[in-house]
Amino acid sequence: MSNKIIFVGDIILPNLSNLKCISAYLIVENGLITERGAKDYFYKYQDNFIKRGYQIKILEPHQFLMPGFVDCHTHAPQFPNIGLGLDRPLLEWLDKYTFPLESQYSDEEFAANVYSKVVKRLINNGTTTACYFGTLHLEGTLELVKSAIKQNQRAFIGKVSMNIENDAGYYNDTEKELREVKTFVEKVFEYNNDLVNPVITPRFAISCDNDLMKKLSVIAKQNSCLIQSHISENKKEIEYVLSTNPECTSYSEVYGRCGLFDNKCIMAHGVHLSEEEIDMFVRKGASIAHCPASNTRLKSGLCPVRKLLNCEVKVGLGTDVSGGDNASILDALRRAMDVSEHLNLLGGKESALNWKEALYLATLGGARALFIDDKIGRLEVNQEFDALLIDLYSKNSPIDKYTYSVAHGEEEEILERVERFVYLGDDRNIVQVYVKGKKVKDIL
Ligand code: GUN
Ligand code: ZN
Repeated sequence: MSNKIIFVGDIILPNLSNLKCISAYLIVENGLITERGAKDYFYKYQDNFIKRGYQIKILEPHQFLMPGFVDCHTHAPQFPNIGLGLDRPLLEWLDKYTFPLESQYSDEEFAANVYSKVVKRLINNGTTTACYFGTLHLEGTLELVKSAIKQNQRAFIGKVSMNIENDAGYYNDTEKELREVKTFVEKVFEYNNDLVNPVITPRFAISCDNDLMKKLSVIAKQNSCLIQSHISENKKEIEYVLSTNPECTSYSEVYGRCGLFDNKCIMAHGVHLSEEEIDMFVRKGASIAHCPASNTRLKSGLCPVRKLLNCEVKVGLGTDVSGGDNASILDALRRAMDVSEHLNLLGGKESALNWKEALYLATLGGARALFIDDKIGRLEVNQEFDALLIDLYSKNSPIDKYTYSVAHGEEEEILERVERFVYLGDDRNIVQVYVKGKKVKDIL
């Protein structure tokens, strides 16, 4: 089959301030978008395109192309616990459910089995890029790397670092931890796969001492790796972190003093950040992975996403399984809108996110938060083709065929179709998924 393909139809271009829908053609060659133009131009010169040997895919009016979903924060090893223990707040939930489960990943066969299913499930839900926490285990986490490579998912994958004792005995001594992180980074680079990269992953300030975090910052710098962690998720967590770091006035200062923010850095949650901390995020160019499902289920709080965006913090969405109860970024998108609406209803100054803004967070916003918006998220020339083909009327679609429309003109009609997918759609509507031009799901 030709590796040159032309898509012709409606293409959605999310942006924070201005989502655009265009009727266009898009040429993908060897995974890269090489040309984009008006649909009329394609039809005028259709014969020439056919002669040049392109495979041509004309979309139906009830189909559209959009950038792939980006999950900025999830825990692959926690999937066997999904939907369990969510009546407890964060620190109890970690001790009772999460650390005991994660300890099981010393078993590489168990790890390989879970991880291949997790990657498949995310791809099925349209997640073309995921930023994963693995576990403490070097070999186990390499199984996640192998699964992502095998299934052609774009991914950042971190071997979790922890050196502070807990009841499950789930931690390493500092020397062993540093040795294994270095080996992990080397091994991932040895795969020489441009879709999968290692990410330095201190779990959070309760699991890592400052000495370890400082040394992890150096490893990140030496290897040009992203750093991911959790910050300011839960009030008890913050209290504990400040009590063990009395010289610091904020959680962000603890990480700042350890040099984490001197790297490309994405922090999950940021529910309770102060104005000064938000300033630090902006100054350092650090990102937030907003995880509305887990913030609600673990009773952590309502993250003021609009405020973060107004302050120009980079924000993407995370499913944060299994603190979150759903693997789909489409679900996270809706829950981000709900949380934002609830904040506004409770008297917040900022307006709620609308669906177009939420769709931006789920796609280009996530790419920006992971520092890869030069590669993906815009469906424009020179970007890699990570995309979803959405079909409103696919088999068993949850979206009704016959509905009332108030649209005036073609662009509004397309917008209505996207809006209905955002509010009602699910994996059944995500009929094809592409990562760097390769089709990784096809139920068309
Ligand atoms: N903080 C430290 N570890 C975790 C985790 O696994 N999930 C969440 N939601 N928060 C954390
Ligand atoms: Zn998390």
